[in-house]
Amino acid sequence: MEPKYAACVVLAFSLMVITTYYLQPHGVVTDATQTASLSLNASQSPAKKISQRMFGLAFEEINHSGAGGLWAELVSNRGFEAGGPNTPSNISPWTIIGNEASILVSTDRSSCFDKNKVALQMEVLCDVDGENICPAGGVGVYNPGYWGMNIEKGKRYRVVFYVRSLQPVEMSISFIGSKDQKLATSDIKDDNVAEWKKVEMVLEAYGSDANSRLQLTTSKRSTIWLDQVSALPLDTHNGHGFRQDLFDILAALKPGFIRFPGGSYVEGDRLMNAFRWRETIGAWEERPGRFNDVWQYWTDDGLGYFEYLQLAEDLGASPIWVVNIGISINEQVDTSLIMPFVQDTLDAIEFARGDASSTMGSARAAMGHLEPFDLQYVAAGNQDCWKKNYRGSYMKFYNAIKGVYPDIKIITNCDASAAVLDHPADLYDYHVYTNANSMFSMAHNFDHASRNGPKAFVSEYAVTGGEAGRGNLLKALAEAGFLIGLERNSDVVEMASSAPLFVNVNNQRFNPDAIVFDSSKVYGTPTYWMQHLFKASNGATLLDSTLQSPSSLTASAISWTDADSGRSYIRVKVVNFGGNRLNLRLAIEGLDNKSIESAGSTLTTLTSTNVKDENSFNEPKKVAPVINALKNASNKMTVIIPPYSFISIDLQRKSNVIQDAESNGVHASL
Ligand code: AHR
Repeated sequence: MEPKYAACVVLAFSLMVITTYYLQPHGVVTDATQTASLSLNASQSPAKKISQRMFGLAFEEINHSGAGGLWAELVSNRGFEAGGPNTPSNISPWTIIGNEASILVSTDRSSCFDKNKVALQMEVLCDVDGENICPAGGVGVYNPGYWGMNIEKGKRYRVVFYVRSLQPVEMSISFIGSKDQKLATSDIKDDNVAEWKKVEMVLEAYGSDANSRLQLTTSKRSTIWLDQVSALPLDTHNGHGFRQDLFDILAALKPGFIRFPGGSYVEGDRLMNAFRWRETIGAWEERPGRFNDVWQYWTDDGLGYFEYLQLAEDLGASPIWVVNIGISINEQVDTSLIMPFVQDTLDAIEFARGDASSTMGSARAAMGHLEPFDLQYVAAGNQDCWKKNYRGSYMKFYNAIKGVYPDIKIITNCDASAAVLDHPADLYDYHVYTNANSMFSMAHNFDHASRNGPKAFVSEYAVTGGEAGRGNLLKALAEAGFLIGLERNSDVVEMASSAPLFVNVNNQRFNPDAIVFDSSKVYGTPTYWMQHLFKASNGATLLDSTLQSPSSLTASAISWTDADSGRSYIRVKVVNFGGNRLNLRLAIEGLDNKSIESAGSTLTTLTSTNVKDENSFNEPKKVAPVINALKNASNKMTVIIPPYSFISIDLQRKSNVIQDAESNGVHASL
């Protein structure tokens, strides 16, 4: 071949290789094995402590996370308020049993509850005898809950409702399965219902169906008013109203904090619909509920401010309350008019922290929590920094809160990673939603952030877009790379949480999410499982490490102690965001082989055959961490890192010389 042609061929081939390398789509796995090395010092001084609250949860009332999710109430629109305060109103999802010849159903404003006046009126036209005989089973209404109620054999459910009638009432209250089978039932007869009366009963199910409904029926000609109909399983977490399986999946992450109640939900599309803590406390029957106009659904506010604080306490996580500072997505209160909002927030803090004799603390005590909640963080607004009134209103909130509660840490919406803030703050909120490549490369985002200003609270991060599917391995790996970067920068990053946390599969308002559920089942996406490998980091010691590798690899190392077992470990986490297998040479200084307990050392791998793989109700753990014994664990060893994988190498130390200080209560196993 002539040299000029040979040169062309070489050039073309090189271009092909370069193009292949750079344009290689995610998921292409090659046979080539590359090498990389990671060296670290296990006895570095001074120790670099990672925040006790580094990794936690961002809970938002989105995707029916609370109403129809973590909050175990089975009845949707229990007070008939979802159709608005004016009547006649839409009572959906309530449905009429019977036809117009047998029953007329409407709403009026005759409720005994001042804050939610709408009640249901049933005019029963049929009877047990006479000309117009009621159909078998009677007439009335039923509520399907949130895409079906999960009724389980042997379980007990507290049903409460308010009733009034011009005649004595005779009613049946039943759970009915999807094949119209009765799962539990109770009858009431009452002559004394001329005034509103509370009826309470416990139904024990003798059958199971995840797609059940609650029905209230009668076969007696009468006019009956109903209001505030509730059905709650008795086995909620600690009796606090949290659906146990959804609580458990959160608790398994050992979250350092929980941010609530949003997100954009805090802002509201319109201020009139924004979360208002005061309307969510006290007796559930008195809560007016709200239309979640950002995510377009009604919530009865069973999960209110008190319950959020209780949830944080039950999870052993610091509550981070995001407060609306007079700014919705479409409106802004003028700063000159903001003081009532400020006072409202001071009242809320007193509700959480005041002693039981204080004005607001006594309201909390009346709800059954005598001791104050441990509220230490208040975030001022959500994604509002760019808005005209933000700084002015923020300062009013900041000064007022610090004046009364100097220890409370206030979180600004303004990004201090790139520029010095023009206002005081203890932390700054940082959100990132981006594609997988950019998320992975954001591992370096905080490398050059100022070391002097407030620390970052990365309260929302997620890979979004079509490539993330409904939460696949690719998403999780890119996010794991990002979190490794946060961990390495834990001197300037205090806390981090992925978002959104939950999705009820029947009403996804934001995709993808970390945890998927329906009325009876739940599974974690790879993003959820990825976070398990970070839970040991809360309160751990960051070890400096030097990585020599292709740019598709990132790694961090910590030293941590399991508070339960007292055992100490070196944990090395590595994300391989490329299609090549790697041989990683690990060299640990300051740890001799005699002090490694090989039998207790493990290698945990999160990967799958296809980087686009997802979990599902049928295969809930298709992509989940797999733990293997690490044979021949040593301070110098080579570990094979599979393509598109996240691994955690845990070397157990023989002597527990570094306990207590970094004890974080995390088990070696998942
Ligand atoms: O996490 C979903 C939404 O994304 C949040 O409500 C908002 O803060 C962000 O834009």
